[in-house]
Amino acid sequence: METRSSGVPNLRALILLLVSVSPLGCGASWMWLGVTSNGTPELPTCSSLSLSGRQRELCRRKPFLLPSVRDGARLAVTECQNQFRLERWNCSTSEEPPVFGLELTSGTKETAFIYAVMAAGLVHAVTRSCSQGNMTECGCDARLRGGKGGGASSVESWHWGGCSDHILYGTWFSRRFMDNTVKNISTSHGSYTLSSMNQHNSEAGRQVIERTMSTDCRCHGVSGSCAVKTCWRTMAPFDRIGSYLKEEYEQSIQVLDRSRRKTKKKGQRGPVNKHRLIYLNKSPNYCLKDRQKGITGTRGRRCNRTSTGPDGCNLLCCGRGYNTHVVRNIQRCECKFVWCCYVHCRRCESMNDIHTCK
Ligand SMILES: *[C@@H]1O[C@H](CO)[C@@H](O)[C@H](O)[C@H]1NC(C)=O
Ligand SMILES: *[C@@H]1O[C@H](CO)[C@@H](O)[C@H](O)[C@H]1NC(C)=O
Ligand SMILES: *[C@@H]1O[C@H](CO)[C@@H](O)[C@H](O)[C@H]1NC(C)=O
Ligand SMILES: *[C@@H]1O[C@H](CO)[C@@H](O)[C@H](O)[C@H]1NC(C)=O
Repeated sequence: METRSSGVPNLRALILLLVSVSPLGCGASWMWLGVTSNGTPELPTCSSLSLSGRQRELCRRKPFLLPSVRDGARLAVTECQNQFRLERWNCSTSEEPPVFGLELTSGTKETAFIYAVMAAGLVHAVTRSCSQGNMTECGCDARLRGGKGGGASSVESWHWGGCSDHILYGTWFSRRFMDNTVKNISTSHGSYTLSSMNQHNSEAGRQVIERTMSTDCRCHGVSGSCAVKTCWRTMAPFDRIGSYLKEEYEQSIQVLDRSRRKTKKKGQRGPVNKHRLIYLNKSPNYCLKDRQKGITGTRGRRCNRTSTGPDGCNLLCCGRGYNTHVVRNIQRCECKFVWCCYVHCRRCESMNDIHTCK
């Protein structure tokens, strides 16, 4: 095997060269940071990533934000896979660009979700880093410090304290890093291009961070009394942002595709509320594997025979049917504490049916 490998390094070099010079589509390559294995300790550098001119310039000026870009991408990819784990399209990624396959350019609801969750991930990760005091350019939200809140009555009163998440910097960075700056997203024709669709959805994703922020408080006083109460603004955990965006995905709106304005008139005309997710093209059904389109298909996916949701065998397997395997599970059970200090358990065996799509 090893002896006939002389041509292989060259081929690999050629592929690497092709990958690095070919345009990967705007914003695709940094998303790759979200799927590289967690074990890699060394950070990417601005020049090791394939970035657009604008992104490269930003990266050169603010290299200290690269760890946050990676954290944000990881947050977003993990949450995308969590939200879609029971669906036919399960947000699967590849370890090479373009990461999400053709989903990144198909202009579907799935494209919309990816851009929204990625943009939100960047805001979240950069803001977290600001709040932890890791950056000189940003910190906690100073506007709130010391100010009073609550009612006029002194019992209800509290004041701002601690560290309020300051999302302005993260939002600025996410916009600057992801957007191609389409000046006027929706024209008077009320139609969109893929680029303006992506920008609209990224912005919708960033807005969710702000809309899901909450106020946390802590009491200081003798033995738990609430004589002094300080409060701060905090971002929601990212899984909440993921569920919120998943709902937006379910209710996303089809808009007019500018390039097809003259032929097909599908979709809503005119500008859409900035909070809604929008898409240009209807999604495929994701049932069958299609290498060219980067669709993995649902064959071999585990389904639930009794569920009426998307993970039910009928829906997930697209009516093709399913195979059933019996698996033996061995667990510790009937554990008893024995004085002192052991826990004694029995080994219990159970048989479980596993169904997978044909
Ligand atoms: C998505 O489903 C495919 C099979 O269709 C499977 O190979 C892959 O691991 C799944 N991805 C995730 C992230 O669950
Ligand atoms: C902030 O810096 C500390 C120490 O370098 C590090 O452990 C932590 O992960 C950083 N936090 C963020 C959000 O980058
Ligand atoms: C953007 O488009 C709207 C119409 O949809 C128009 O009224 C507005 O003047 C445009 N703005 C710019 C800066 O071109
Ligand atoms: C299958 O779906 C049913 C009904 O939704 C649910 O109660 C059950 O926990 C699911 N089983 C598995 C293994 O996920």
